Order: sequence, then structure tokens, then C-alpha cells
Amino acid sequence: MEVIAQQIRKEYYRRGGSSNIFMAVEPCDFVIPAGQLTLIHGRSGSGKSTLLNMLAGILRPTEGRVFYDGTDVYRMKDVELSAFRNLHIGYVPQGQSAVSSLNVLENVMLPYTLYGEDGRDAALAAMERFGIADLCEVMPDRLSGGELRRMAIARALVRNPQVLFADEPTGDLDDENTAAVFGTLKELAQEGAAVLVVTHEEDSFRYADRIFDMNAGKLG
Ligand SMILES: Nc1ncnc2c1ncn2[C@@H]1O[C@H](COP(=O)(O)OP(=O)(O)OP(=O)(O)O)[C@@H](O)[C@H]1O
Ligand SMILES: [Mg+2]
Repeated sequence: MEVIAQQIRKEYYRRGGSSNIFMAVEPCDFVIPAGQLTLIHGRSGSGKSTLLNMLAGILRPTEGRVFYDGTDVYRMKDVELSAFRNLHIGYVPQGQSAVSSLNVLENVMLPYTLYGEDGRDAALAAMERFGIADLCEVMPDRLSGGELRRMAIARALVRNPQVLFADEPTGDLDDENTAAVFGTLKELAQEGAAVLVVTHEEDSFRYADRIFDMNAGKLG
């Protein structure tokens, strides 16, 4: 599946300045090709998460369109888009995303249970891949930062998505786990997924097929 964005931009309302309108992402065209790992880096506040969220079908652009294999995602109805995302898109958000009332296995299974499906085996396999299979029954508040991160990644991959977004996926991981995560993201791309990663990690550049720099809302 290929993602194509046409002239998307995002303005936020922000008090101050001359107009109270802040342009977080300037108009840009962008493609996330299937079978490649695309990387975006750039300074804090440059608009990386905003761009990623618009591409992932989570944040409606102020203007512009986002197509998944020709389907204009922001023209879908809300429930339709949610189901589409659950089926086709993996998403590792920046920061903490555990559901605190669910244990680790239940968190990873969530993309199945939300739709009344049984995802136990798939969840266990994803957890195995990231070395957290022995934490099934542990609650998120007992996990280390790195374990929480690996749980979020396992959840994003549990349905074998064709498109994967990861926003700073290795921020709190050690070198070994960082390499494991990028190795897996690369593998997914090689298996045919369209993968987009936002990162500060310069070590990760060697995994990338394409690298973009973001600076004050401009993608270069
Ligand atoms: N909901 C919002 N309302 C107003 N301004 C926002 C909103 N979300 C983000 N911004 C602003 O837009 C700019 C871009 O934010 P964004 O989160 O995309 O940056 P980023 O490049 O991901 O930064 P970081 O590396 O710190 O995660 C920032 O200046 C931020 O303050
Ligand atoms: Mg960000």
C-alpha cells in the first residue's frame, strides 16, 4: 500500500504573534512508498509529529489530501476511517500510550479485541519478537520505559499492517533494543510495508532507504 499526500498543511490556533495562527507544517507533497523505510528527522517543534499524524489519518490537515492506494482517507466517515486504520495502519505514538487498566497481553491484543476478534496468538508472537512474552500479566505501571515502548511497538505490529508509523520509537531504549527495533522496522519494509519513522537517532540513518529533514514546518 502506498501513501500519497498532496499539498497538506497544518495551522494551529496559537495566541501571540501577529495573527494567532501558527503554521506547524507548510504545504507539502509527500509519498511513503511500499517496501521502503522512510525517515524524518529534525529539531523539536519543527512539525514532525504533526506531519506524521496527518499522514496516519489521525489529524485532519487544514488543507490538502491524503490517499491510501487512491482512497482519500479524510473523506471517510469516522467509524470507517477507524476500522481502516485498525486493519491497515500500525501506529507507535510519541510518548506513553499504554491503557493502564489492561495488562501487557491485553494491551497488545487491543487491535483485535476492540473489534471482537481473538488476537491472543498474534499478540503472543509479537511480544515474543520484542522479548516481552514473559510480561503477559504485568500491569503497565510496573514496566520500565523500554518495556512500555516495546509493548507499544508490539501492539502496532500485531495485525501485520501494510503501513507503519513510528514517532520516536526508540527514545527510551538502550542500544541493543534500538538496533532490534530498527532491524524489525527494516524487515517490515523489506516484506513490503510502507514504513515512516520520525527519530533523533542518527545511528538509525543506516537503516533508512530515504531520509528527510524537517525545519520550522518545512520538509526538505
Ligand atoms: N494542538 C496544537 N495546538 C497548537 N500548537 C500545536 C499543537 N500541536 C503542536 N503544536 C505546535 O506545533 C509545532 C510542531 O509540533 P510537533 O509536535 O509537530 O513538533 P515535533 O517536530 O514533533 O517536535 P518534537 O521533536 O519535540 O516531538 C510546535 O511548535 C507545537 O508547539
Ligand atoms: Mg514529535
